[in-house]
Amino acid sequence: PISIEFDRETREAAAQKIKISVYFATWWALNVVFNIYNKKVLNAFPFPWLTSTLSLAAGSLLMLVSWATKIAEAPKTDLEFWKTLLPVAVAHTIGHVAATVSMSKVAVSFTHIIKSGEPAFSVLVSRFLLGEAFPTSVYLSLVPIIGGCALAAVTELNFNLIGFMGAMISNLAFVFRNIFSKKGMKGQSVGGMNYYACLSMLSLLILTPFAIAVEGPQMWTIGWQKAVSLIGPNFVWWVVAQSVFYHLYNQVSYMSLNEISPLTFSIGNTMKRISVIVSSIIIFSIPIQPINALGAAIAILGTFLYSQVTYPQPSLNSPPHNFLS
Ligand code: 3PG
Repeated sequence: PISIEFDRETREAAAQKIKISVYFATWWALNVVFNIYNKKVLNAFPFPWLTSTLSLAAGSLLMLVSWATKIAEAPKTDLEFWKTLLPVAVAHTIGHVAATVSMSKVAVSFTHIIKSGEPAFSVLVSRFLLGEAFPTSVYLSLVPIIGGCALAAVTELNFNLIGFMGAMISNLAFVFRNIFSKKGMKGQSVGGMNYYACLSMLSLLILTPFAIAVEGPQMWTIGWQKAVSLIGPNFVWWVVAQSVFYHLYNQVSYMSLNEISPLTFSIGNTMKRISVIVSSIIIFSIPIQPINALGAAIAILGTFLYSQVTYPQPSLNSPPHNFLS
């Protein structure tokens, strides 16, 4: 009986590992496709506030249809849930639009190199705003992250201040999103997929008036006609692809977050950026200098060091964690 029990545990552990690997591979692949179509759209149609809004709208629509047709079970939420979701949605909206504005101004690879510095923001916010203390090794791991990002930024051939600041604001906003999520999800029974669906819907409500105020239908109409005359009728499919893939990669990432610790999640997120950086450099033939690539490599290595010194490494075989527990 002991060996039967052992066999069962080994099989369950292996199944869990396969499940996480499938989640990660799907998340990265969907993210690479999103980044490519998003940049193709932004090159022809430089209206990041509208494309950010459309990504949230596509996700909201997909989930409303899934709930109505019972493909997915609608979550049971109350006013308290939406109240605690509000700060998460504000931070998600700011982080999303700032990253998209950044990508409209600079190479996708550059935005993601700066975004690989997110752990540094996490430590700085926790230290200076929340008063949390960290061991010296954590602070030391920030040196290559910040130094590598700085080196990559100053040697970037298509440096642009708005592009740089957009990625920095996105980092800061996503740190707050994670802190608020942690508070908001405590004791809630809404799973990762539905949590992200509600987040999209609330963010869509927040972003729409701002998108209209900053860009507006008049600019969109002229821009759209230009893009269609440049690309042809297929342009609409590029927009659909960037919007749908944005929702899908985020949904899968929140589903995997349900199963793993935040640390494993952040390692996965950094590895995702490597695949985005490499694939976008190839697809868009982005010119890079060796010193620029060195800066990116140091920053990414720093993130790995950070993840190694932050917490004891959890095992993927450990029982599933709660969302952002
Ligand atoms: C966005 O548009 O929200 C950003 O591309 C998100 O970036 P991330 O999911 O890679 O952090």
